Amino acid sequence: MDVRWTAFFTTFMPLLSCFFDITVTYKQERVCYFPERWEGEWFQSGVRQSIVIDGPRLSSKGRCLDSDGDKFLVVDDKRACYRCVVIHEKHANVLQYKETFCHPRTSLASLCSFITGDALLYSMFRVGAIPVPCPFRGPFVFTYNRGHGECRSPVSSVDACTEESRLLLSYQACPDVHGSESTVEELQCLAAWKEGSARYLVGKVHHNHATSNEDRFRCFVYEKASTKSEAIDGIEFRVAQSGDATCNGLFSATEGSRTITLKRVPSPSDCRFPSWLAGLNHWHSLDYSITYSFHHRNSTLKITNSSGFEMRIVCTQIKPTTRENSAMLLTHFTRGCESGFMCMLFQRRDIYVVEVQVGAQTKRSEDACAAPYFNKSNIPYTTLV
Ligand SMILES: *[C@@H]1O[C@H](CO)[C@@H](O)[C@H](O)[C@H]1NC(C)=O
Ligand SMILES: *[C@@H]1O[C@H](CO)[C@@H](O)[C@H](O)[C@H]1NC(C)=O
Ligand SMILES: *[C@@H]1O[C@H](CO)[C@@H](O)[C@H](O)[C@H]1NC(C)=O
Repeated sequence: MDVRWTAFFTTFMPLLSCFFDITVTYKQERVCYFPERWEGEWFQSGVRQSIVIDGPRLSSKGRCLDSDGDKFLVVDDKRACYRCVVIHEKHANVLQYKETFCHPRTSLASLCSFITGDALLYSMFRVGAIPVPCPFRGPFVFTYNRGHGECRSPVSSVDACTEESRLLLSYQACPDVHGSESTVEELQCLAAWKEGSARYLVGKVHHNHATSNEDRFRCFVYEKASTKSEAIDGIEFRVAQSGDATCNGLFSATEGSRTITLKRVPSPSDCRFPSWLAGLNHWHSLDYSITYSFHHRNSTLKITNSSGFEMRIVCTQIKPTTRENSAMLLTHFTRGCESGFMCMLFQRRDIYVVEVQVGAQTKRSEDACAAPYFNKSNIPYTTLV
C-alpha cells in the first residue's frame, strides 16, 4: 500500500470511528420508545397529575435514552440526571415499576444494578381503561372484616350486574362489630392477573364517599377456596382489598385493609319456569317491542326491548296456584347493577299464547308475591306470542 494512504488511515480512522460511535449513540437516543401499547394516561397514587406515556416520554420522569427488555434509562431533562426504571406489564391496564434515584450518567446496566430487591414497587393504573370481566360473578353472600372482627350477621351480599365487568356489593352493619357499616359499593373490574400462586384484581370502587381516583382505584388479591372443609362450608373465594390506590402490602387473600369471604348463595337451581312456557325459547309481545327468552336449563329468563334495555330474571320459587295452566313465580331480577325480587304470574291461553303479569320490585323476597307489590286484580297483562 502507498505510504500516503497508510498515513491517511492511521490519522483518520480513529476520528472516523469516533464519529461512527457518536451516530450510534445518537441513534440509540432517538429509537428508545416505550411500547406503543403503553401509550396513554396513567394514574399513580400520590401523583397529582396523570402520568402520560407518549413515544419516548414518560411524563413525570423524562425521556427514554436506552432500553433493554423491561429496563429503561430515562433522562430527567429538568434536573439533568439519569435513572433506571424497570417496568413490568401486569396487564394491559396495569404497569408496576421500580426505579433508582437520579444519578449522573452511566450505562443502563450499571445504573439498573442500583435497584435492590426491597426497592418500593409503584403501581400505575390506566385512566379510562376498558373494563374486563370480573373473575368472580355474583350472586354470593359474604362476610367481611375491616380489622375489628368478622361481620357475619346479618350476612352481606354480592350481586352480578348485567355487565360482566361490574359487581354490586351490599355491605351490612353487624351490631357486634365495630367499624362495620351498611353501604352499597359497585366494583368495576379493570385488570386481573396471576403472579406466582397469587391472583390479583384491580378495579374501581364506586360509592357515595369515593370522589377521586385516589378513593376509587383498589387492588385485590383473591383465591379460590381449595380445601374440602371450605367447600363444605360453601366458601367459594377469599378476597383481600387494599386500603389505598396501590397494590402495596397485599400478599395473600387473608390479610388486607379489608378481607371478604364469598360463599355460594343457597342454590335456587331446582326452580324452573314451566315447560309449557320455557319449551318455546322465545316469546314476543304483540308489537314485537319486548322479547322474553329462556336460558340455562329453563331457570333464567332474559327480557329485552327494542331500545336495548335488558333484564335478567332467575326463578327462585314456584308459588302454589289453583289453576292448572298458570304459574306464579317468585323471581330474582338484575338490571344493570340493580337487583331485587319480583313476582310473575304466567297464564297459558293457548299453545302459542301466554299472558303475564309482573309485580313491583322489592329488595325483600318475602314481600314480592304479596300486596302491595303483587295484586293480581290491578296489574296489567302483557300478551306474549
Ligand atoms: C326445558 O324445557 C323444555 C321444554 O319442556 C324441556 O324439553 C327441557 O328438557 C328443559 N330443560 C331442562 C334442562 O330442564
Ligand atoms: C324499554 O324499557 C325501558 C325501561 O323500562 C323503557 O324506559 C323504554 O322506554 C323501553 N323501550 C321501548 C322501545 O319499549
Ligand atoms: C287489590 O287491588 C284491588 C283493586 O285496586 C283492591 O280493591 C284490593 O283491595 C287490593 N287487594 C289488596 C290485598 O291490597
